[in-house]
Amino acid sequence: MNQRTFFVKTFGCQMNERDSEIMSQTLSMHGYVEGMVMEQADLVILNTCSIRAKAEQKVMSLLGMLRKAKASNKGMQICVAGCVAQQEGEKLLERMPHVDLIIGTQNIYRIGECLEYARKNPGFIAIDLQDNYDIPRFMPDSDLSANKPAEFRKFVTIMQGCNNYCSYCVVPYTRGREVSRKVSDIIDEIKVLIEGGIREITLLGQNVNSYGKTNIVTDNGLPCSFADLLHLVAEIPGLSRLRFTTSNPKDLSDQLMRCFRDIPILCPQFHLPVQAGSDAVLKRMNRKYSVQQYLELVDTLRSYRPEIALSTDIIVGFPGETEEDFQGTMDLLEQVRYHGSFSFKYSDRPGTRSADFDDKVPEDVKTRRLIEFQARQDEISLERNREYLGSTKEIMVESINSDSIKGRTTTNHIVHVDSSGLGDNIRPGDLLMTEIYHAGQHSLKGKINS
Ligand code: SAH
Ligand code: SF4
Ligand code: F3S
Repeated sequence: MNQRTFFVKTFGCQMNERDSEIMSQTLSMHGYVEGMVMEQADLVILNTCSIRAKAEQKVMSLLGMLRKAKASNKGMQICVAGCVAQQEGEKLLERMPHVDLIIGTQNIYRIGECLEYARKNPGFIAIDLQDNYDIPRFMPDSDLSANKPAEFRKFVTIMQGCNNYCSYCVVPYTRGREVSRKVSDIIDEIKVLIEGGIREITLLGQNVNSYGKTNIVTDNGLPCSFADLLHLVAEIPGLSRLRFTTSNPKDLSDQLMRCFRDIPILCPQFHLPVQAGSDAVLKRMNRKYSVQQYLELVDTLRSYRPEIALSTDIIVGFPGETEEDFQGTMDLLEQVRYHGSFSFKYSDRPGTRSADFDDKVPEDVKTRRLIEFQARQDEISLERNREYLGSTKEIMVESINSDSIKGRTTTNHIVHVDSSGLGDNIRPGDLLMTEIYHAGQHSLKGKINS
C-alpha cells in the first residue's frame, strides 16, 4: 500500500511554525510522507492563528476551498490545529462539517493517534486544555542535515501559554496557562540541533521573561530564570548566534538586560512590544507598565549594548484611543526610533475583555492612524539603515544563488552580497564579513571584505 501523504499549512507566529514541525515529525514517525501539493495530499493540516479577525478569515476561506478538493479526493482527511481549533472547537465543525479532526494546542504530540481515531470517527474534536500541562519531552530528528542541507537555524519553544491577559489578546485562551519546559529538555534539544548542523537558535515563548516562574524546571528543584537559561544555552559548544522572542516589558529584569552585555553570542537585537504610547491606553490594555518605565528600559538596554537594534509591536485604534493617545504612540516612535515594527489595527476578538469595551474606534480612523504610523516607521527604518553605511558587519548566510548571497546581521538586518568570484564553497549558516555600501528601507547591500 502506498504511504499516506500529508501537507501542513502554517499560519501565525513562530510558535505555530515550531508546532508544525513537531506534527510533521510525529507524522513521519507514523509512516506518513510529506507531499508537495495540498489538494492531492491524503492529509491536510491547517495550523491556524486567531490573533486578529483577518487571520481567522484566511483559515475559513482556505477550509471552504478544501471542501471542493475533498469532494474530488475522497480519501482526504482534513485536520485543523492551532489557535482557531482551540478556540472554536465545536463551532468550527458546525460551519465546516467536512473537517475530520480538530486538534487543540496541547494535543499536537498525540496527532498520530487522534488521526487514527478520526478515520473511524470523522469530526473528532480533541481540544482539552490542562492547567498543569507537562510539556512532553520531544527531541528533533537527529539527522537534520541529511534531510535538509540548507537548514542552519531553528526555533526552540521554551514555554507554552500565557498568564498575562492583556485585554485584547486571545492567546491565554488558545494556549492555556503558562508552563515552562524543563531546562534539560531544552538543552538536550539544542545539542541535537547543533549536531545536525544548526548554528543559530531562537528561544520562543509568549513572554520569555517569566520562564521558570510557574513550575519547577530543574532536576534539583532550584529556580532557573530566563537569564540563567540564556547563560546555560550560550555555554553549549557550537552555537554561533542566540536570539529570543517575545518579551513583555512589564517584567523585564535587569538580570536579563545584562545578558546583552555579558553573552557575546546573544545577538544585539530585541523585540520589545510596547503596543501603545499612552498610559491611559496601556492601562486599559492591562499591560502593567507606563511609557516612562518603557523608555527607561530602552535606555538601560542601550547602555548595556549600544548597538542593540530594537523592534516592537503596535496596536492602533484600541477602544477609546483618542487623537492625543495616538500622538503619544507617534512621539514614542520618535523617541525610540525603532529599527522596525509590526503594527496592527485593533481587532475585536471573541472572549477578550476589550471586545466589550465602549468607544470602539471607527475603521477609517484606525486605517488613517495605521498608515501614518507605518509611513513614519518606514522613514525611520531607512534612516536607521543608513547609519550602517561604510561599516563592516558579520552576516550569517541564508541563501545563495548564481549572482547574490542573502545573509543576516546579528541585528537582524538582511544584507545582499554580490557573489561573483566567491566560489561554490559558501554554505547557508556560514559567517562572512561584509562592508555595507547601500541602505534601502528593508535591506542592505554589502561587499565581501577581503
Ligand atoms: N506575546 C507577545 C504577543 C503575541 S501576539 C507579547 O506579548 O509581546 C503578537 C502581536 O499581535 C501583539 O504584540 C499585538 O501587537 C498584536 N495583537 C494581539 N491581539 C491583537 C488584537 N486583538 N488586535 C490587533 N492586534 C493584536
Ligand atoms: Fe497576549 Fe499579552 Fe500574553 Fe502577549 S503577554 S500573549 S499580548 S496576553
Ligand atoms: Fe496566532 Fe496563536 Fe501565535 S493566535 S500569533 S498562532 S499563539
